[in-house]
Amino acid sequence: EKGGYPHFMLKEIFEQPRSILDSMRGRMIAESDHMMMGGIREFENKFVNAERILIVACGTSWHAGLVAEYLIEDLARIPVEVEYASEFRYRNPIISERDIVVAISQSGETADTLAALELAKSKGATIFGICNVVGSSIARATDAGAYTHAGPEIGVASTKAFTAQVTVLSLIAMILGSKRGTLETSKLRQLMVELESIPSKVEKALELNEQIIKISEQYKDATNFLYLGRGYNFPVALEGALKLKEISYIHAEGYPAAEMKHGPIALIDEHMPVVVIATKDSSYEKIVSNIQEVKARKGKIIAVVTEGDTTIPAMADHVIEIPETSEHLVPLLSVIPLQLLSYHIAVMRGCNVDQPRNLAKSVTVE
Ligand code: M6R
Repeated sequence: EKGGYPHFMLKEIFEQPRSILDSMRGRMIAESDHMMMGGIREFENKFVNAERILIVACGTSWHAGLVAEYLIEDLARIPVEVEYASEFRYRNPIISERDIVVAISQSGETADTLAALELAKSKGATIFGICNVVGSSIARATDAGAYTHAGPEIGVASTKAFTAQVTVLSLIAMILGSKRGTLETSKLRQLMVELESIPSKVEKALELNEQIIKISEQYKDATNFLYLGRGYNFPVALEGALKLKEISYIHAEGYPAAEMKHGPIALIDEHMPVVVIATKDSSYEKIVSNIQEVKARKGKIIAVVTEGDTTIPAMADHVIEIPETSEHLVPLLSVIPLQLLSYHIAVMRGCNVDQPRNLAKSVTVE
């Protein structure tokens, strides 16, 4: 059932070219700029005229929500707030009938996410679900939704569900941008073509596996890790850190790179591995200077860069090259090496990667 892989997690990481394709299949035809998503069509007017979109989720699904905030605000110009479901439900939030609340959940059974959407529903908001498990409690409680088609995810650490969520959220941002007229047709077309090429680029990123095994050997005994990213790669930094801590039990923190100088920089010495996601995008120059700041304090840099980069390889201790893509879609590629890194480090430390201690696949109690 693990398809020849030693763990479900590795199998699921390697399934991503297919699960991403399945999550976009039938939802766009790049040649004709045509995009369709049943759940959105039902509530098209509400979506297009929404004053605000609130996203509620937990864990990795919350990270996918953060990526969506960047996507929807940039492409569709609708204000987005991303909330931890557990905080949202208990802080007497301001919700109106003009709000759209998007609940993201792989399992569709997360207690806090379900309670958060029930609360929003009672205040009259329109509830949209992005779930992986068909017929799950959250899917049933929503007004409309779009399923991710990642297939069953068995490993407790979410991998293919995350990329499927980001795929669906990218499509939603593109649809809304095009309906609202905030995304030009030429730009839309470009993004569609780019999205279509993601599965084969993920395939390419998976070829990094051997290189990542070697890097993992060097860092498996580290006691702390820092993950830094900016823009679309900031949520990826959070996700990389979460993956490492949950399965390898190494303490890891994800930060927006520029926040480093407001505190975490004090942690950096020659024993601190710092994973920097520094792909060629609008924050590239800035992140290069963040790398210099780490090197000046003797931190070890593991950099995820765009293929062909020549500046960062001259500064970093290890360079992981991923294919080039639009910055809007880069999380779908930059997260891959981080999933592999956490997987291999955890295996080398003898951890139970599919069922880490103290964790359950779905958190059905608060
Ligand atoms: O099923 P959900 O997407 O609602 O689950 C949310 C979190 O419990 C989940 O993402 C958790 O953080 C994962 N173990 C992360 O890998």
